[in-house]
Amino acid sequence: MLPSLEKKLAKRKAQHHFRELSLKPNLIDLASNDYLGLARSPVLRQFILNELQDIPSSLNGFGSTGSRLLTGNSLYCLDLEAHIASFHGYQAGTLFNCGYMANIGLFAAIAGENDCILYDAHIHASMHDGFRLSPAQAFPFRHNDLDHLERRLKRRREIKGECFICLESLYSTDGSQAPLNEIIALSQRYQAHLIVDEAHAIGTCGPNGKGLIAENHATQAIFATLMTFGKALGVHGAIVLGSTQLKETLANFARSLIYTTALPRVSLAAIKSSYAVFPTLDQARQQLQHLIRCYQRQTPQAAPAHIQSIRVPGNHNVQSLSRQLALKGFDVRPLMSPTVRRGEERLRICLHAYNTPAEITELFYKIGAVYA
Ligand SMILES: Cc1ncc(COP(=O)(O)O)c(C=O)c1O
Repeated sequence: MLPSLEKKLAKRKAQHHFRELSLKPNLIDLASNDYLGLARSPVLRQFILNELQDIPSSLNGFGSTGSRLLTGNSLYCLDLEAHIASFHGYQAGTLFNCGYMANIGLFAAIAGENDCILYDAHIHASMHDGFRLSPAQAFPFRHNDLDHLERRLKRRREIKGECFICLESLYSTDGSQAPLNEIIALSQRYQAHLIVDEAHAIGTCGPNGKGLIAENHATQAIFATLMTFGKALGVHGAIVLGSTQLKETLANFARSLIYTTALPRVSLAAIKSSYAVFPTLDQARQQLQHLIRCYQRQTPQAAPAHIQSIRVPGNHNVQSLSRQLALKGFDVRPLMSPTVRRGEERLRICLHAYNTPAEITELFYKIGAVYA
């Protein structure tokens, strides 16, 4: 046993932030990102199995054999990228093994030492890790605070290089939406480039589940968009969408694309199948909207989104509430500090097309009972 690790782990336990790879089987799912139920869908499963039938006998489908820049590339992969890019209305797309790898590759590839990155204080950890790998300076602005963003942008003239603004279209912490059109206007006024992570909006929002950028007809105003496939799309992987120049930049400078084995054909087939299925799921999207309205009837603090949160300050308190709800049959996970700021700890409640209004009523009843 290493004493240094022992000390680190003991500190985590003392802070009530000790993480474990636990299992919570057979609970009502209000925690997963499978918003449309595609990860459990027999229809998607059948699409994938059909797609796999076409794998040439020279491939086993489970190994891509190398990086995209070496032997891991294929016509199938290039066609899939072109198909997804055109579906979302962009010139080009570059697939990554997951959203985390896309975000850590993207920022170091595009932002150089004279550039600056302005980011919403609530963005995902993967973007923060991306900033760390880039020599650009990164500055936060308060969550969805346009005045604060503009104050930051006014100092733009001090920056010799490019300025990038980073956001999520729908925030994973509390379901709040970015004021996209207002931020686009600011980015144009101050010649900044917008990078938008649509991880939690793809599949669930916009026309045919295309996301919130499509809903706002804003595709042309965005420099780079990240779509991830492991949430509402029910599979795995991610794509960065933008210009052909962006695609060339990623192939040359995104280390998390260059120095890793590419996604195998089975994963590509799953992504292709999900893109065949999720645009057709308007009924599931309507069901999700119905559940959001049911949730809103329970509490005035509700977000108009499939991600909700209930503030329970303190790691110990929020962890304890989550445990008590698990004993009562609900899988609802805590968001603890340092993932969120200290004092802003919360329960995150993810709604799915397969949840029922009765489950939501019951959840609030159980939360009330814990506090009674
Ligand atoms: C906003 C956001 N971006 C990126 C990621 C990373 O995506 P992936 O799970 O595909 O690595 C996540 C997932 O946790 C996320 O919530």
